[in-house]
Amino acid sequence: MHTTRALEEARLEGLPQEQRAAYEAEAARLRVEAGLAQKAAMRAALEGAGQRVVIDCSYVTQVEELHAPRHGERVREIVAQANVRSLAKQVEIAMGMNRRSQRPVALNLTSFRGDLAAFCDHSGARSWPVRRHEEHVLDVFASEASNLVMLTPDAAAPLEGPLDPRAIYVIGGIIDKSVIKGLSLGWAEAAGVRAARLPVREHAAELGMSFDGANKTPVLSVSDVVAAMIEAGRTGGDWTAALAVALPERVRRAGVPGRRRR
Ligand SMILES: C[S@@+](CC[C@H](N)C(=O)[O-])C[C@H]1O[C@@H](n2cnc3c(N)ncnc32)[C@H](O)[C@@H]1O
Repeated sequence: MHTTRALEEARLEGLPQEQRAAYEAEAARLRVEAGLAQKAAMRAALEGAGQRVVIDCSYVTQVEELHAPRHGERVREIVAQANVRSLAKQVEIAMGMNRRSQRPVALNLTSFRGDLAAFCDHSGARSWPVRRHEEHVLDVFASEASNLVMLTPDAAAPLEGPLDPRAIYVIGGIIDKSVIKGLSLGWAEAAGVRAARLPVREHAAELGMSFDGANKTPVLSVSDVVAAMIEAGRTGGDWTAALAVALPERVRRAGVPGRRRR
């Protein structure tokens, strides 16, 4: 299979040396320019221009302290699944996608501490373009609690239209390989935070998906949800485009069967 680079090389081979050098210099200049523009966009996003998106890492770093009282017996299951490495990987993927985006979001990591922070720092997290907070999301955004929107597959209301620039969209940093239903919705209800789900059902037809039940919403990974939010922000609320980026092809093709479906 030809890569874009290989095709480009083949095309350039036919050119006289001088033209080829000029072409390559111009391509390098454009690459540098694009890199600088991306860095500027990221700086602006983090300084306040970007849509705020939070990954709440407390499900890995503060399970006993924050979530155990609410979930009782089920907390053992949550602790057993609270996988530091998996969440670290998801956060790194999300950060990388955002860094490459033409229109990045302001990515916030809350309850980012302990083993998780140490593990990420080992992979260079000190220089990631994110806002990191050791405190819980409710403490970080205490003065703006009414702007918080918990994204959860179990919410009744779907997101629709353009993202609200004042809103702070929160994603549960949860890696539940066998889905523990209602974790993020339960938290939102207890904290009095608004909840919303991605509008997969509403855009299923355009995405070529079929649902055989009214209440089925696919449960996506943390990084897939970040991808959807970046694309929804970039396109001004084109959810078909955002979900096409976020939903893995196999999920779309199969109409969300199996364990990703509820
Ligand atoms: C792997 S899911 C965890 C699902 C978990 N059982 C729960 O109760 O949230 C990780 C996070 O991605 C977000 N998420 C996943 N699928 C979503 C959907 N369809 N709509 C909205 N948010 C979703 C939620 O914030 C969720 O906490």
